[in-house]
Amino acid sequence: MRDWMGRDIHYLRISLTERCNLKCIYCREETAFCKAKEELTLDDLTELMQAFTVLGIRRVRLTGGEPLIRKDLEQIVHMISSFPQIHDLSMTTNAQGLANRVARLHQLGLKRINISLDSLDPERYRSMTRGGDFNQVMCGIDAALAEGMPVKINAVLVRGENEEEADDFIQLAREYPVDVRFIELMPFSALGTQDKQRVLNSEILARHPELCAVPPRDPSQPSEDYQAEGFAGRVGFISPISHKFCSHCSRVRLTSEGKLRMCLGNDRETDLRPWLHAGTEQLTQVLRDAIYHKPEAHAFESNICAQRAMNQIGG
Ligand code: 5AD
Repeated sequence: MRDWMGRDIHYLRISLTERCNLKCIYCREETAFCKAKEELTLDDLTELMQAFTVLGIRRVRLTGGEPLIRKDLEQIVHMISSFPQIHDLSMTTNAQGLANRVARLHQLGLKRINISLDSLDPERYRSMTRGGDFNQVMCGIDAALAEGMPVKINAVLVRGENEEEADDFIQLAREYPVDVRFIELMPFSALGTQDKQRVLNSEILARHPELCAVPPRDPSQPSEDYQAEGFAGRVGFISPISHKFCSHCSRVRLTSEGKLRMCLGNDRETDLRPWLHAGTEQLTQVLRDAIYHKPEAHAFESNICAQRAMNQIGG
């Protein structure tokens, strides 16, 4: 459906849980405790999907927290992929424990995987994620590629942490058939609001004149894609701070506790729980009203950030 600005909203990001087995330094504080809040059940999600598909949602991404933590993830994937309107179902994951679940998820209808990976150095990966196992990520990537699934790698560069790895990540896209995307640090934690820790994508690009712009895989994708001679994959730049893409944003977000959020950087939310089990028609009307009023843009560049942490919204 179209919102008040005429944007075609067809992409829903569903956060399945706030829980995560990692604590990435830019996502949540070390001491943050994440209680398993009331999460939407498979039945709730089925009812919501019925309403969302009526409104023209055609793409779904599962996020979190860490979606692999949900024990019923396989059932959720199967349920969503059974809607004929949904032609693209993907998931963003940290890939801990992905390797031995990915074939089944693929079989059940998961089409693509995005993997968060901020360092190619196992020790640094462990410290940036506060406990993650690098080896599991690489096994997860290999297993997804072996399934023939498109894989994207999301890397957030933080000055003083991993900024000198930009070249290694670009090298990864040269050697591996994966798209490596650099995401500019957004103001979600104390660290994210420090402008001096943010590496702008324009800096990386300026150091790599060999990279040439290529047309996007999808017209509404947030990344600007580049490639060079002999690259197996692409290098993408997602620049929410230096190049806002709000004017062609096609997405809305559902939090794991059932709040509809129209913009990552705007705290306006609609609680959908009261409308569950009241009939699809009423739920659809509530969604239609909320989506129509999607905010014009975020204001991350002024460090106006969300009150929720990233893991509470869904990255
Ligand atoms: N800034 C930029 N990207 C972030 N992510 C999580 N928190 C932030 C932040 N503050 C990214 C993760 C993941 C994606 C879903 O969001 O790295 O890949």
